[in-house]
Amino acid sequence: MYSAASRSVRQTTAHLFARCWVRTPGRGVATLPLFSLEGKTCVVTGAGRGLGKETLTAFARSGARGACIDLTLASCNSSISHIKSHLRTTASDLPEPDIRPYACDVTNESAVQSTFAQIAHDFGGIDILVTAAGIVDNVEAERYEFERWKKMVDVNLHGSWLAAREGGKYMIRQNERDGEIGKEEGWKKRGGSIVFIGSMSGNICVRPQKQAGYNATKAAVNMLAKSLATEWATHNIRVNSLSPGYIATDLIKGLLKKEGKDLSQEWVKHIPMGRMAHPSEFQGTVVWMVSDAASYLTGSDIIVDGGYTAY
Ligand SMILES: NC(=O)c1ccc[n+]([C@@H]2O[C@H](COP(=O)([O-])OP(=O)(O)OC[C@H]3O[C@@H](n4cnc5c(N)ncnc54)[C@H](O)[C@@H]3O)[C@@H](O)[C@H]2O)c1
Repeated sequence: MYSAASRSVRQTTAHLFARCWVRTPGRGVATLPLFSLEGKTCVVTGAGRGLGKETLTAFARSGARGACIDLTLASCNSSISHIKSHLRTTASDLPEPDIRPYACDVTNESAVQSTFAQIAHDFGGIDILVTAAGIVDNVEAERYEFERWKKMVDVNLHGSWLAAREGGKYMIRQNERDGEIGKEEGWKKRGGSIVFIGSMSGNICVRPQKQAGYNATKAAVNMLAKSLATEWATHNIRVNSLSPGYIATDLIKGLLKKEGKDLSQEWVKHIPMGRMAHPSEFQGTVVWMVSDAASYLTGSDIIVDGGYTAY
C-alpha cells in the first residue's frame, strides 16, 4: 500500500516522464527528448525572413506553435507559408504547425504591448521569445548622422528590450499562476526562455567595415541578456544571447549590394572555417538554447562564428 503523498509523487513523476518521452508518431529520429518544444508557445520577432524565419522553422519542426512578428502581415504570411510547405516536404508525418502572423514595428511601444497581449490571449501564454528583428548600417563614425544612429539603437536595442519586457511580463505571470496551481503536488513551475540575437560584433570589431553603431547595439544586447538573466532567474526565466558570425541572409546580401564591392571575399579570409554560415546552421543552437536541454544556461552569450573571434 502506498500513502497518498507517495502516490502523488509517483503520479507526478510518471506524468513528467510521459511528457518527456512522448514520441511524435513516425518521426523516426532518435534524439534526446529534452530538445523537444512540444506544447510550447514561441514568439519570434523579425521572422519574416532570414535568421528569424529560420528560427521559427526550427521551433515548428521541434513541435512548438507560435507567433511570427515582422513589419508587415504580407512578410509574415509569406514566411509562414514557406515554413509550412518546407515542413510538408521534410517532415510530412508531423501535423501542420499552428503559426500565426502579427504585423508589428518593434520600436513602437504601444504596438509591441498590444501585439504581445494579443499573442498571449490567442495562445494562452508565451514560453519562448527570440528577438531577431534587426538592421545593419556601415558608416564611418565621423560621418554618422544622429538620426541614423538613433534608428540603429531604436531597432536593435529598444526593439529587443520592448519585446523582452512584454514577453517577460507574461512569462512571470504564468510562472506565478502555475506555481500556485501546482504548489501542493510540487510541480515544476512553468517558466520561460528568451534569446536575443546579438552578433559577434558585440564582442569584437569586424573588419574592414566601419559600424560603430551596430557594434554598440549588439554589445548592449549581450549585456541586456545578462541583466535580465539575473533579474528573472527567480521567475524560472532563462535569458541568453546568440551571437552569430557572418550568415548569407538577405540582410548581408543587401549590405554587400549597397557597398558596391564584394566584401565577402575579405571576410572569408578571417574565418577559420573559410566560409560564411548558411542560416539553417543556427537551427540546432537556437533550439538547444530555448529547450529544457539547456536548463542551466542563463546569462550566457553563445558565439557561433566559424571560429572568427578565436583569432
Ligand atoms: N546575417 C548576418 O550575417 C548576421 C550576423 C550576426 C547577427 N545578425 C543578426 O541577426 C538578426 C537577423 O538578421 P538577418 O540577417 O536575418 O536579417 P534580415 O534583414 O534578413 O531579417 C531581419 C528581419 O527583421 C525585420 N525588421 C527590421 N526592423 C524591424 C522592426 N522595426 N520591427 C519588426 N521587424 C523588423 C525585417 O523586416 C526582416 O524581416 C539581426 O539582429 C542581425 O543583426 C545577422
